[in-house]
Amino acid sequence: MPQFSLMEIIEKVDELKGYFSSSLRDAGDIDRLRELESEVLSKKGSIASLNKQLGSMDQDLRQAAGAVINDARAQMRADYEATLARLLAAARERELEAEKLDLSEIVSGSDFHAGRFHLISKTRSELEDIFIGMGFAVEEGPEAETDWHNFEALNIPPYHPARAGQDSFYLKYGEPESMLLRTHTSPVQIRVMTRQEPPIYAVMPGRVYRRDTADARHTPVFHQIEGLVVDKGITFANLAGAIETFTKAIFGPNIVSRLRPGYFPFTEPSAEFEVTCAICEGAGCRTCSNTGWIELGGCGMVDPNVFGAVGIDPEVWTGFAFGFGIDRLAQMRYAISDMRVFLDNDVRFLRQF
Ligand code: DAH
Repeated sequence: MPQFSLMEIIEKVDELKGYFSSSLRDAGDIDRLRELESEVLSKKGSIASLNKQLGSMDQDLRQAAGAVINDARAQMRADYEATLARLLAAARERELEAEKLDLSEIVSGSDFHAGRFHLISKTRSELEDIFIGMGFAVEEGPEAETDWHNFEALNIPPYHPARAGQDSFYLKYGEPESMLLRTHTSPVQIRVMTRQEPPIYAVMPGRVYRRDTADARHTPVFHQIEGLVVDKGITFANLAGAIETFTKAIFGPNIVSRLRPGYFPFTEPSAEFEVTCAICEGAGCRTCSNTGWIELGGCGMVDPNVFGAVGIDPEVWTGFAFGFGIDRLAQMRYAISDMRVFLDNDVRFLRQF
């Protein structure tokens, strides 16, 4: 192996540094840069082979030459990293520039109208937000429901008069009268209680169907939101508090609510939940049948028979439930005298919200 002098090593290192820095400068892309790194700085590169020469040198010369090589390597490595960073940044910039999407659109002319949510959808999501803020989860269930979920499990047996009050659309599916379009969102309570153990804090919005003739306050398809709380030590006071909190949040100060004794098979005791008629501000009108009040829905303490149907121990758990019409609520909130406009799809109406 040839013997190198310190001078020769220094010369070779200088030569290599000169070559490396001019190649760095000329390297137009990252591939070329990486090639250069491998050629000079890698384990099989020029620096490594210079290092090999050290073995044949005298002890003191070897140390001096080793320091020269190390310094040069550190310097070249730093230059390489800086160049690589610069090229990567430039490449990224080009990439972003190439992928840039222009999302602005100039729309001119007067016949342009942005789409929007239907008032009912808007009201439903506002209600969800309010209840989420109160600590409730949002749950859903099917619109085609079994008789068991819609009636039986809710303590409404086949002969019960409450079935007559909710004239149902039955489906031709399975046994006669075993499947129907749900008449209320209460069956979702049953679904939530059968799939989840208490404690339960949930609201369940959705579409419901009744064989009603459309009038100012009724449409055969409408929307309800159901609420269910099951926990230890829940009382009627908790129910009244929840209703009060939600009414204030959705209606603001001008509309007041009241609970009146009522009857529902699935709650005991039960109450009807009414608000001031916003159309006449309580004076009495066609919409509220001259009572000054509009019934939004019902509520009460979950009947032990309902807990029995879903296997929840009523000695351990108590709960309250409520259910009310989203359409009715929107109607009162915006003082809409006739609910049928929700289904007309008249943009002059829809555009106002
Ligand atoms: N499901 C009833 C209806 O559609 C409303 C209702 C009343 C729901 C009392 C409830 C409740 O959860 O506790 O008329």
